[in-house]
Amino acid sequence: MDPNPINWSIQNASWRDFTQLNQLEKACFRQEDLWPFWDLIGALTLPGLVRLKAVVDENMVGFIGGERDTIRGVGWVTTLGVLPDYRRRGIALALLKRCEHSLDLPAIRLSVRASNHPAISLYEGQGYVVINRWKKYYVGGEDALVLEKRR
Ligand SMILES: CC(C)(COP(=O)(O)OP(=O)(O)OC[C@H]1O[C@@H](n2cnc3c(N)ncnc32)[C@H](O)[C@@H]1OP(=O)(O)O)[C@@H](O)C(=O)NCCC(=O)NCCS
Repeated sequence: MDPNPINWSIQNASWRDFTQLNQLEKACFRQEDLWPFWDLIGALTLPGLVRLKAVVDENMVGFIGGERDTIRGVGWVTTLGVLPDYRRRGIALALLKRCEHSLDLPAIRLSVRASNHPAISLYEGQGYVVINRWKKYYVGGEDALVLEKRR
């Protein structure tokens, strides 16, 4: 049993969440992986995207973004992060499931640093399999693994 339970919920995000999303990204990702300003704005405003936040006491503690390639029938998870103090409570798992449901396409894909074992464990536990490796995709030269789940 969780010795320190918290109440959290998942809600749609909007442009009003920019400041909190910016802070969350900084807490979750290394400097070289941070999205530029306009990518964050786009994730929170562009039509047709999935943007979901996990909230505790009106504070964002997790975020997932998704976009659709309807021509190919593929949804992409574009970002997923949970604040360090709120990890291992199932928040990322819940965000991922809600995002997959909202994308509502036959295949869901994402890319992840090849060394990011926590994230890869999460995805493989949900049935994602490696379908590609993008050599030196990330700043610093690390490969990306492309994972896919067929629904
Ligand atoms: C990866 C990340 C989103 C996971 O968030 P989380 O809320 O802690 O994940 P969950 O609690 O939903 O974990 C679900 C399952 O994923 C796996 N998992 C998650 N974190 C793990 C870790 N550190 N080590 C091993 N497995 C892990 C486990 O199987 C876990 O189930 P369990 O806790 O019952 O064992 C979080 O660690 C994070 O924000 N990391 C930094 C940003 C990042 O790397 N994002 C992914 C980019 S592709």
